[in-house]
Amino acid sequence: MLISTKGGQAWLIIFRANMKKEKYLVTSALPYANGDLHIGHLAGAYLPADIFVRFQKLLGNDVIYICGTDEHGTPISIKADQKKVPPRKIVDKYHRRIKSVFEGLNFCFDNFSGTARPVHYKISQQFFTNLLKNEYITTHTNKQLYCPNCKRFLPDRYVEGECPFCHSKEARGDQCDACGKLIDAIQLINPVCITCGHNPIIKETTNWFLNLPKFSDKLEKWIESKTEWKDNVKKFILGWLKSGLKERAITRDLDWGVPVPLENAKGKVIYVWFEAPIGYISSTIEWAEKIGKPEKWKDYWFDKNTKLIHFIGKDNIPFHTIIWPAVLMGQDEDYILPYLL
Ligand code: MF3
Ligand code: ZN
Repeated sequence: MLISTKGGQAWLIIFRANMKKEKYLVTSALPYANGDLHIGHLAGAYLPADIFVRFQKLLGNDVIYICGTDEHGTPISIKADQKKVPPRKIVDKYHRRIKSVFEGLNFCFDNFSGTARPVHYKISQQFFTNLLKNEYITTHTNKQLYCPNCKRFLPDRYVEGECPFCHSKEARGDQCDACGKLIDAIQLINPVCITCGHNPIIKETTNWFLNLPKFSDKLEKWIESKTEWKDNVKKFILGWLKSGLKERAITRDLDWGVPVPLENAKGKVIYVWFEAPIGYISSTIEWAEKIGKPEKWKDYWFDKNTKLIHFIGKDNIPFHTIIWPAVLMGQDEDYILPYLL
Protein backbone atom coordinates (compact mmCIF):
# COMPACT_ATOMS: atom_id res chain seq x y z
CA MET A 1 0.00 0.00 0.00
CA LEU A 2 1.29 3.49 -0.62
CA ILE A 3 0.04 6.95 0.04
CA SER A 4 1.13 9.73 -2.30
CA THR A 5 0.16 13.35 -2.43
CA LYS A 6 -0.39 15.13 -5.68
CA GLY A 7 -1.65 18.64 -6.13
CA GLY A 8 -2.63 18.85 -2.47
CA GLN A 9 -4.81 15.77 -2.67
CA ALA A 10 -3.92 12.53 -0.99
CA TRP A 11 -4.19 9.38 -3.05
CA LEU A 12 -4.24 6.02 -1.49
CA ILE A 13 -3.09 3.34 -3.85
CA ILE A 14 -3.63 -0.17 -2.73
CA PHE A 15 -2.01 -3.25 -4.16
CA ARG A 16 -3.78 -6.28 -2.96
CA ALA A 17 -3.21 -8.89 -5.59
CA ASN A 18 -1.67 -11.35 -3.13
CA MET A 19 -3.33 -10.14 0.03
CA LYS A 20 -5.73 -12.47 1.76
CA LYS A 21 -9.12 -10.93 2.46
CA GLU A 22 -9.71 -10.36 6.15
CA LYS A 23 -13.07 -10.55 7.82
CA TYR A 24 -14.23 -8.05 10.42
CA LEU A 25 -17.35 -7.58 12.48
CA VAL A 26 -17.15 -4.09 13.90
CA THR A 27 -19.51 -2.70 16.51
CA SER A 28 -19.87 0.59 18.35
CA ALA A 29 -21.33 0.63 21.88
CA LEU A 30 -25.09 0.86 21.61
CA PRO A 31 -26.05 4.37 22.78
CA TYR A 32 -28.84 4.53 25.37
CA ALA A 33 -32.04 5.79 23.78
CA ASN A 34 -32.59 8.27 26.60
CA GLY A 35 -31.05 11.44 25.25
CA ASP A 36 -29.28 13.07 22.35
CA LEU A 37 -25.75 12.29 21.29
CA HIS A 38 -23.02 14.77 22.02
CA ILE A 39 -19.55 15.27 20.59
CA GLY A 40 -18.03 13.14 23.36
CA HIS A 41 -20.03 10.13 22.19
CA LEU A 42 -19.06 10.66 18.58
CA ALA A 43 -15.38 11.11 19.34
CA GLY A 44 -15.30 8.04 21.58
CA ALA A 45 -16.97 4.93 20.24
CA TYR A 46 -18.30 6.08 16.84
CA LEU A 47 -15.99 8.22 14.74
CA PRO A 48 -12.91 5.97 15.23
CA ALA A 49 -15.02 2.94 14.33
CA ASP A 50 -16.41 4.60 11.23
CA ILE A 51 -12.89 5.51 10.09
CA PHE A 52 -11.66 1.98 10.76
CA VAL A 53 -14.57 0.45 8.84
CA ARG A 54 -14.17 2.74 5.84
CA PHE A 55 -10.49 1.96 5.73
CA GLN A 56 -11.11 -1.80 5.84
CA LYS A 57 -13.72 -1.48 3.09
CA LEU A 58 -11.24 0.46 1.00
CA LEU A 59 -8.73 -2.33 1.44
CA GLY A 60 -11.34 -4.67 0.03
CA ASN A 61 -11.76 -6.60 3.27
CA ASP A 62 -15.01 -8.24 4.27
CA VAL A 63 -16.40 -5.97 6.98
CA ILE A 64 -19.78 -5.21 8.45
CA TYR A 65 -20.45 -2.41 10.90
CA ILE A 66 -23.23 -3.04 13.39
CA CYS A 67 -24.93 -0.75 15.89
CA GLY A 68 -28.31 0.25 17.29
CA THR A 69 -29.79 1.87 20.37
CA ASP A 70 -29.71 0.36 23.85
CA GLU A 71 -33.36 0.61 24.80
CA HIS A 72 -33.65 -0.90 28.27
CA GLY A 73 -32.16 -0.31 31.66
CA THR A 74 -32.73 2.27 34.30
CA PRO A 75 -31.37 5.21 32.25
CA ILE A 76 -34.47 4.81 30.07
CA SER A 77 -37.05 3.94 32.68
CA ILE A 78 -35.89 6.78 34.92
CA LYS A 79 -36.29 9.26 32.08
CA ALA A 80 -39.75 7.85 31.35
CA ASP A 81 -40.72 8.22 35.02
CA GLN A 82 -39.52 11.82 35.04
CA LYS A 83 -41.52 12.67 31.92
CA LYS A 84 -44.50 10.54 33.03
CA VAL A 85 -44.67 8.69 29.72
CA PRO A 86 -44.23 5.00 28.85
CA PRO A 87 -40.58 3.96 28.27
CA ARG A 88 -41.35 2.93 24.69
CA LYS A 89 -42.23 6.50 23.88
CA ILE A 90 -38.83 7.74 25.08
CA VAL A 91 -37.08 4.94 23.23
CA ASP A 92 -38.85 5.59 19.93
CA LYS A 93 -38.18 9.29 20.10
CA TYR A 94 -34.48 9.02 20.87
CA HIS A 95 -33.93 6.11 18.53
CA ARG A 96 -35.20 8.32 15.72
CA ARG A 97 -33.13 11.31 16.81
CA ILE A 98 -29.93 9.35 17.31
CA LYS A 99 -30.36 7.55 14.02
CA SER A 100 -30.91 10.80 12.14
CA VAL A 101 -27.77 12.35 13.66
CA PHE A 102 -25.75 9.36 12.46
CA GLU A 103 -27.35 9.58 9.03
CA GLY A 104 -26.70 13.32 8.85
CA LEU A 105 -23.03 12.70 9.61
CA ASN A 106 -22.94 9.90 7.05
CA PHE A 107 -21.88 7.10 9.37
CA CYS A 108 -21.53 3.87 7.44
CA PHE A 109 -23.40 1.37 9.62
CA ASP A 110 -24.55 -1.72 7.79
CA ASN A 111 -27.38 -1.93 10.28
CA PHE A 112 -28.71 0.26 13.05
CA SER A 113 -31.23 -1.60 15.20
CA GLY A 114 -32.69 -1.25 18.68
CA THR A 115 -32.91 -3.64 21.61
CA ALA A 116 -36.66 -3.36 22.19
CA ARG A 117 -37.47 -5.30 19.00
CA PRO A 118 -38.90 -8.84 18.87
CA VAL A 119 -35.77 -10.29 17.22
CA HIS A 120 -33.73 -9.06 20.17
CA TYR A 121 -36.17 -10.35 22.80
CA LYS A 122 -36.12 -13.75 21.23
CA ILE A 123 -32.38 -14.23 21.07
CA SER A 124 -31.75 -12.67 24.49
CA GLN A 125 -34.22 -15.08 26.05
CA GLN A 126 -32.53 -17.96 24.21
CA PHE A 127 -29.16 -16.90 25.59
CA PHE A 128 -30.60 -16.83 29.10
CA THR A 129 -32.30 -20.21 28.74
CA ASN A 130 -29.14 -21.78 27.35
CA LEU A 131 -27.00 -20.58 30.22
CA LEU A 132 -29.59 -21.89 32.64
CA LYS A 133 -29.64 -25.29 30.95
CA ASN A 134 -25.83 -25.38 30.95
CA GLU A 135 -25.86 -24.66 34.70
CA TYR A 136 -24.24 -21.28 34.54
CA ILE A 137 -27.20 -19.56 36.18
CA THR A 138 -28.24 -19.85 39.81
CA THR A 139 -31.00 -18.22 41.85
CA HIS A 140 -30.60 -16.45 45.14
CA THR A 141 -33.02 -14.78 47.45
CA ASN A 142 -31.32 -11.87 49.02
CA LYS A 143 -31.62 -8.38 50.27
CA GLN A 144 -32.21 -5.51 47.90
CA LEU A 145 -32.80 -1.82 48.40
CA TYR A 146 -36.47 -0.90 48.35
CA CYS A 147 -37.97 2.59 48.50
CA PRO A 148 -40.97 2.57 50.85
CA ASN A 149 -42.09 5.90 49.44
CA CYS A 150 -41.99 4.92 45.74
CA LYS A 151 -43.01 1.35 46.65
CA ARG A 152 -40.49 -0.35 44.46
CA PHE A 153 -37.08 -1.96 44.41
CA LEU A 154 -34.21 0.34 43.52
CA PRO A 155 -31.89 -1.45 41.18
CA ASP A 156 -28.87 0.14 39.53
CA ARG A 157 -29.32 3.80 38.74
CA TYR A 158 -32.44 4.21 40.85
CA VAL A 159 -30.11 4.62 43.79
CA GLU A 160 -26.99 6.61 44.50
CA GLY A 161 -24.61 6.79 47.43
CA GLU A 162 -21.03 6.47 48.57
CA CYS A 163 -18.75 3.99 46.80
CA PRO A 164 -17.67 1.20 49.18
CA PHE A 165 -14.28 1.01 47.42
CA CYS A 166 -13.05 4.53 46.69
CA HIS A 167 -15.59 6.46 48.81
CA SER A 168 -16.60 8.79 46.00
CA LYS A 169 -19.97 10.25 46.98
CA GLU A 170 -21.43 9.90 43.50
CA ALA A 171 -21.51 6.15 42.99
CA ARG A 172 -24.61 4.60 41.44
CA GLY A 173 -26.16 1.29 42.33
CA ASP A 174 -24.46 -0.47 39.41
CA GLN A 175 -21.06 1.14 39.07
CA CYS A 176 -18.79 3.83 40.43
CA ASP A 177 -17.54 6.09 37.67
CA ALA A 178 -14.75 7.41 39.90
CA CYS A 179 -12.95 4.06 40.33
CA GLY A 180 -14.65 2.05 37.58
CA LYS A 181 -15.65 -0.80 39.91
CA LEU A 182 -18.95 -2.61 39.49
CA ILE A 183 -21.12 -2.35 42.57
CA ASP A 184 -24.10 -4.16 43.99
CA ALA A 185 -26.56 -1.48 45.05
CA ILE A 186 -26.73 -3.01 48.52
CA GLN A 187 -23.03 -2.24 49.09
CA LEU A 188 -23.54 1.53 48.75
CA ILE A 189 -22.90 3.60 51.85
CA ASN A 190 -25.77 6.01 52.68
CA PRO A 191 -27.97 5.06 49.71
CA VAL A 192 -30.62 7.52 48.52
CA CYS A 193 -33.59 6.95 46.17
CA ILE A 194 -32.93 9.23 43.20
CA THR A 195 -36.64 9.64 42.50
CA CYS A 196 -37.80 10.94 45.87
CA GLY A 197 -34.68 11.38 47.98
CA HIS A 198 -35.79 8.91 50.70
CA ASN A 199 -33.41 6.41 52.23
CA PRO A 200 -34.32 2.96 51.04
CA ILE A 201 -35.02 0.03 53.30
CA ILE A 202 -33.85 -3.53 52.77
CA LYS A 203 -36.28 -6.13 51.44
CA GLU A 204 -35.87 -9.67 50.15
CA THR A 205 -36.37 -10.70 46.56
CA THR A 206 -35.32 -13.61 44.35
CA ASN A 207 -33.18 -13.07 41.30
CA TRP A 208 -31.13 -15.06 38.82
CA PHE A 209 -27.34 -14.85 38.88
CA LEU A 210 -24.64 -15.52 36.33
CA ASN A 211 -22.14 -17.87 37.91
CA LEU A 212 -19.04 -15.94 36.87
CA PRO A 213 -16.63 -17.96 39.06
CA LYS A 214 -17.30 -20.94 36.77
CA PHE A 215 -15.80 -18.96 33.91
CA SER A 216 -12.71 -17.61 35.69
CA ASP A 217 -10.16 -20.09 34.37
CA LYS A 218 -11.41 -19.84 30.84
CA LEU A 219 -11.58 -16.05 31.01
CA GLU A 220 -8.10 -15.79 32.45
CA LYS A 221 -6.57 -17.98 29.74
CA TRP A 222 -8.42 -16.07 27.09
CA ILE A 223 -7.39 -12.65 28.37
CA GLU A 224 -3.77 -13.73 28.80
CA SER A 225 -3.74 -14.83 25.16
CA LYS A 226 -4.71 -11.33 24.05
CA THR A 227 -1.25 -10.05 23.22
CA GLU A 228 -2.60 -7.20 21.16
CA TRP A 229 -4.67 -5.67 23.97
CA LYS A 230 -3.58 -2.52 25.71
CA ASP A 231 -1.59 -3.18 28.87
CA ASN A 232 -3.78 -1.07 31.11
CA VAL A 233 -6.90 -2.92 29.98
CA LYS A 234 -5.30 -6.32 30.57
CA LYS A 235 -3.92 -5.35 33.97
CA PHE A 236 -7.28 -4.02 35.06
CA ILE A 237 -9.09 -7.21 34.12
CA LEU A 238 -6.49 -9.67 35.31
CA GLY A 239 -6.42 -7.84 38.64
CA TRP A 240 -10.14 -8.27 38.84
CA LEU A 241 -9.97 -11.95 37.98
CA LYS A 242 -7.23 -12.58 40.53
CA SER A 243 -9.23 -10.95 43.31
CA GLY A 244 -11.99 -13.49 42.54
CA LEU A 245 -15.13 -13.13 40.44
CA LYS A 246 -18.48 -13.17 42.17
CA GLU A 247 -21.85 -14.33 40.93
CA ARG A 248 -23.70 -11.39 39.42
CA ALA A 249 -27.43 -10.76 39.36
CA ILE A 250 -28.66 -10.78 35.77
CA THR A 251 -32.33 -10.11 36.48
CA ARG A 252 -34.05 -7.12 38.00
CA ASP A 253 -37.37 -6.28 39.64
CA LEU A 254 -38.46 -3.86 36.94
CA ASP A 255 -41.18 -3.82 34.34
CA TRP A 256 -39.26 -2.37 31.39
CA GLY A 257 -36.91 -4.86 29.78
CA VAL A 258 -36.73 -8.32 28.26
CA PRO A 259 -38.98 -10.53 30.40
CA VAL A 260 -37.22 -13.40 32.17
CA PRO A 261 -38.44 -16.40 30.14
CA LEU A 262 -39.60 -18.48 33.12
CA GLU A 263 -42.99 -19.06 34.67
CA ASN A 264 -41.97 -18.09 38.19
CA ALA A 265 -40.47 -14.78 37.15
CA LYS A 266 -43.39 -12.36 36.92
CA GLY A 267 -42.29 -8.74 37.25
CA LYS A 268 -38.66 -9.56 36.52
CA VAL A 269 -36.65 -8.57 33.49
CA ILE A 270 -33.21 -9.49 32.24
CA TYR A 271 -30.51 -7.06 33.35
CA VAL A 272 -29.71 -4.57 30.61
CA TRP A 273 -26.00 -5.32 30.65
CA PHE A 274 -26.76 -8.97 30.06
CA GLU A 275 -28.86 -8.35 26.98
CA ALA A 276 -27.50 -5.12 25.45
CA PRO A 277 -24.35 -6.70 23.95
CA ILE A 278 -26.57 -9.44 22.53
CA GLY A 279 -27.90 -6.47 20.54
CA TYR A 280 -24.75 -6.77 18.43
CA ILE A 281 -26.03 -10.18 17.38
CA SER A 282 -29.72 -9.29 16.98
CA SER A 283 -28.74 -6.28 14.86
CA THR A 284 -26.62 -8.58 12.68
CA ILE A 285 -29.58 -10.93 12.33
CA GLU A 286 -31.78 -8.00 11.32
CA TRP A 287 -29.15 -6.98 8.74
CA ALA A 288 -29.08 -10.49 7.27
CA GLU A 289 -32.87 -10.51 7.00
CA LYS A 290 -32.87 -7.10 5.32
CA ILE A 291 -30.41 -8.18 2.64
CA GLY A 292 -32.51 -11.27 1.98
CA LYS A 293 -29.92 -13.76 3.32
CA PRO A 294 -31.35 -14.62 6.73
CA GLU A 295 -28.58 -17.12 7.55
CA LYS A 296 -25.74 -14.77 6.64
CA TRP A 297 -25.23 -13.46 10.19
CA LYS A 298 -23.82 -16.87 11.11
CA ASP A 299 -20.99 -16.38 8.60
CA TYR A 300 -19.70 -13.72 10.97
CA TRP A 301 -20.64 -14.86 14.46
CA PHE A 302 -19.66 -18.51 14.04
CA ASP A 303 -16.57 -18.13 11.87
CA LYS A 304 -13.29 -18.34 13.81
CA ASN A 305 -11.69 -16.12 11.18
CA THR A 306 -13.96 -13.18 11.93
CA LYS A 307 -12.25 -10.49 13.94
CA LEU A 308 -14.86 -9.07 16.29
CA ILE A 309 -13.93 -5.52 17.21
CA HIS A 310 -15.90 -3.55 19.78
CA PHE A 311 -15.45 0.21 19.88
CA ILE A 312 -16.56 1.20 23.37
CA GLY A 313 -16.14 3.88 26.02
CA LYS A 314 -13.89 3.35 29.01
CA ASP A 315 -16.73 2.63 31.50
CA ASN A 316 -17.85 -0.27 29.36
CA ILE A 317 -14.64 -2.28 29.70
CA PRO A 318 -15.67 -4.68 32.51
CA PHE A 319 -18.89 -5.58 30.74
CA HIS A 320 -17.18 -6.31 27.44
CA THR A 321 -14.21 -8.20 28.85
CA ILE A 322 -15.79 -10.33 31.59
CA ILE A 323 -19.57 -10.56 31.47
CA TRP A 324 -20.12 -10.50 27.71
CA PRO A 325 -17.42 -13.09 26.88
CA ALA A 326 -18.76 -15.32 29.68
CA VAL A 327 -22.26 -15.07 28.22
CA LEU A 328 -20.87 -16.11 24.83
CA MET A 329 -18.76 -18.92 26.29
CA GLY A 330 -21.78 -20.41 28.04
CA GLN A 331 -23.80 -20.94 24.84
CA ASP A 332 -24.17 -24.24 22.97
CA GLU A 333 -22.97 -22.77 19.69
CA ASP A 334 -19.39 -21.60 19.22
CA TYR A 335 -19.77 -17.86 19.07
CA ILE A 336 -16.62 -15.88 18.40
CA LEU A 337 -15.26 -13.79 21.26
CA PRO A 338 -14.09 -10.18 21.07
CA TYR A 339 -10.82 -9.90 19.21
CA LEU A 340 -10.07 -6.35 20.23
CA LEU A 341 -11.70 -3.49 22.01
N1 MF3 B 1 -25.66 1.90 26.46
C1 MF3 B 1 -24.38 1.70 27.06
C2 MF3 B 1 -23.74 3.03 27.38
O1 MF3 B 1 -24.08 4.00 26.74
C3 MF3 B 1 -23.46 0.92 26.17
C4 MF3 B 1 -23.99 -0.40 25.82
S1 MF3 B 1 -22.84 -1.25 24.91
C5 MF3 B 1 -23.55 -2.75 24.72
O2 MF3 B 1 -22.90 3.08 28.27
F1 MF3 B 1 -22.69 -3.56 24.39
F2 MF3 B 1 -24.04 -3.20 25.81
F3 MF3 B 1 -24.50 -2.67 23.88
ZN1 ZN C 1 -38.29 6.85 46.33
